[in-house]
Amino acid sequence: MVQIPFLSLKRVNEIIEPEINEAVKDVIDSGWYIMGEACQKFEKNMASDLSKESGFVIGCNSGTDAICLALKVAEIKPDDEVITVANTAIPTVSAIVSVGAVPVFVEIDANTWVMDVQQVSEAITPRTKAIVPVHLYGNMVDVSALKKLLLNLGREDITIIEDCAQAQGAALQGKQAGTIGDFGAYSFYPSKNIGAMGDGGAIFTKSAIAYQQLKMYHNYGQKDRYNALVAGGVNSRLDEIQAAILDVKLKYMHNWNRYKYKLMKKYRELLQDLPIKFQAITAGCEPAWHLCVISLDKSYNRDDVQVKLLNHGLQTLIHYPNPVHLQKAFKKYCQYSLPVTESLTKTILSLPFNYVMQEEELEQVAQIIRKCL
Ligand SMILES: Cc1ncc(COP(=O)(O)O)c(C=O)c1O
Repeated sequence: MVQIPFLSLKRVNEIIEPEINEAVKDVIDSGWYIMGEACQKFEKNMASDLSKESGFVIGCNSGTDAICLALKVAEIKPDDEVITVANTAIPTVSAIVSVGAVPVFVEIDANTWVMDVQQVSEAITPRTKAIVPVHLYGNMVDVSALKKLLLNLGREDITIIEDCAQAQGAALQGKQAGTIGDFGAYSFYPSKNIGAMGDGGAIFTKSAIAYQQLKMYHNYGQKDRYNALVAGGVNSRLDEIQAAILDVKLKYMHNWNRYKYKLMKKYRELLQDLPIKFQAITAGCEPAWHLCVISLDKSYNRDDVQVKLLNHGLQTLIHYPNPVHLQKAFKKYCQYSLPVTESLTKTILSLPFNYVMQEEELEQVAQIIRKCL
């Protein structure tokens, strides 16, 4: 019997249910369900939340689409190379492949578990056109160091698309995730830092030109109604109902993120004497923890531990059980091994972690882990 489920979205959303009901009703009553005021309002609010300087947000269908649309606007063409990591969710890479580009995988840092920026220079070739650093679990890649590296190599032509699906609200030296590179791609998958009640995504850019392009690409390639200027446009718009829900959640996001930061600290205190490791925070980063992932000492069989935890009532998940470069669909792009990524994958477990959890629940989780190790 599961006593502590990994996540109950119902419970997470309950605390703002009346506000959400009202926002949804307003949209229904408006009679306008796509590309209306709710979406415009949310895009504006998200843009000003992300950057005090100028910047634009455009809503789209999903985080996957956010990456695809940014790649299209960056004019990534078939056979161009796009550097990323294998320690990520599949969509980071499926987005790259969907525009015909070739994903090139670099290693992660053994402590921060995100892209090892120092290894990027070796992966750059004349065909490299973009880099997709992934801010995994809420921690950030040092995108400033990445930009410096490209500057030193004379390769500022390479577009940086930050995958912020798991790190909305995180910051590096005071700049929010997604605002340091050329594009920030966000996901509103229901469990994310702000989750829709369905699918949703958004892209941030500081470039007014890129923004105009994004507006076309996400709406059939049209500049305005029945007037297409770019080929390859798609239908990827953020619905009014989802935008209204997200606008409610956006107001609370930083508070929720701060609360989760405290919970993460508590987990780390409670489990500090056990043979497990937590993700190190990138220097200069204020993480916006999305997941609480532990890495078990190699002497344990992670799968056995996971079953044992479940038998004691604790549900855990694995993000992710098989790194992307070893997936059947993507194997052909990676003829070499990624030892750090591969060994981390075998030891990780994600613990229940959300902004409605109380400290006592964390203590219960810690007790069960203690019993099972
Ligand atoms: C790191 C990462 N990138 C991209 C995505 C894709 O987002 P979506 O599910 O909204 O398409 C996700 C979410 O699942 C993710 O975790």
